[in-house]
Amino acid sequence: MMAAGSGDHRRQPPLVPAANPAANPAGQPDPVPVVRIEHLDKIYNPGTPGQVQALRDINLVIQGGEFLAIMGPSGSGKSTLMNIIGCLDAPTAGRYLCDGIDVASLDAEERARLRLARIGFVFQSFHLLPRMSALENVTLPLIYAGVPRAERAAIAEQALAQVGLADRGRHRPNELSGGQQQRVAIARALINSPPILLADEPTGALDSRTGEDILALFKRLRDAGHTVILITHDAEVAAHADRVVHIRDGALHEGDDDGQPPPEA
Ligand SMILES: Nc1ncnc2c1ncn2[C@@H]1O[C@H](COP(=O)(O)OP(=O)(O)O)[C@@H](O)[C@H]1O
Ligand SMILES: [Mg+2]
Repeated sequence: MMAAGSGDHRRQPPLVPAANPAANPAGQPDPVPVVRIEHLDKIYNPGTPGQVQALRDINLVIQGGEFLAIMGPSGSGKSTLMNIIGCLDAPTAGRYLCDGIDVASLDAEERARLRLARIGFVFQSFHLLPRMSALENVTLPLIYAGVPRAERAAIAEQALAQVGLADRGRHRPNELSGGQQQRVAIARALINSPPILLADEPTGALDSRTGEDILALFKRLRDAGHTVILITHDAEVAAHADRVVHIRDGALHEGDDDGQPPPEA
C-alpha cells in the first residue's frame, strides 16, 4: 500500500503516475482489486419484445497495475461491459466494486466523481473536439476537475510531452495523423492521473504499425502503475496484454478461448 499522506510524490515518475499504483516495493499483494465483478448480468429492455441479455453471470477481478485484454467478436458484450466498468451504465443484477466501492451504492453525482477520479476513457474514434487544439482538448478534464486556470496549461503540456506530442499542442485534430490524434486522446484520458485506463478498440481506426505504437504506450503506462483494460476483437492486439479474457455471447472465459467455462475454483 502507498503510505497515506507521505510527502514526496515526485520520485521520477517514468510517465503519468497512477494515483494508486499497485506495484508496491514490499511485494505485498494489494488486498483491494481495482475491479471486482460478481455474478453480473446486463439485460437491455427487460420485459419487452426487444429484450437482449448482453452479459450473463460475469465474474472478473482485475488487480491494480494489470494490463488486461477483454477480447470477443462484435456483439459479444464488450462495450456493455466497458460501460459498466466505466460507471457509465448499471448492471441489471450482480455487483461491481470499483476500488472496493460498491458502485450501486453511489448516487449519480458520486458516480460521476468516482469516474472522473479513477477512470480514463479511450475510444476507437478518438472523440476529440474538432475546433479545439490538441492542448485545449487535453485541458478539458482539468476544467471539469476544478484545476485553477493558471495551472492547467503546464499540466496539459506535460501530458502531451509524455505521449510524444510536445510540439503539436497548437494543432487541431484534423492537422494530426490518426495515431497522433489517439495519443492526444490518451493524454486527455490520463490528465487527472486516473488509475484505470479503459480503452475500447483503441487501435481499430489505425494502421497496424501505428496501432503497435499505441500498444507500446499502454505498456509504458502499465509500467508506470496504471491499470490498462483493453477491449478488442483482434487476437493480435489482445496478445500485447499480460492477461486475456474472452467474451462470447455475453459470457466471460478466462485464459485460452476453448469456449469452455473455467473450472470452478
Ligand atoms: N442500448 C442497447 N439496447 C439494446 N441492445 C443493446 C444495446 N447496446 C448493445 N445492445 C446489444 O447487446 C449485445 C452486446 O452489444 P455490445 O456490448 O455493444 O457488443 P460489442 O461491443 O462486443 O460489439 C448486442 O446484441 C447488442 O445488439
Ligand atoms: Mg463494442
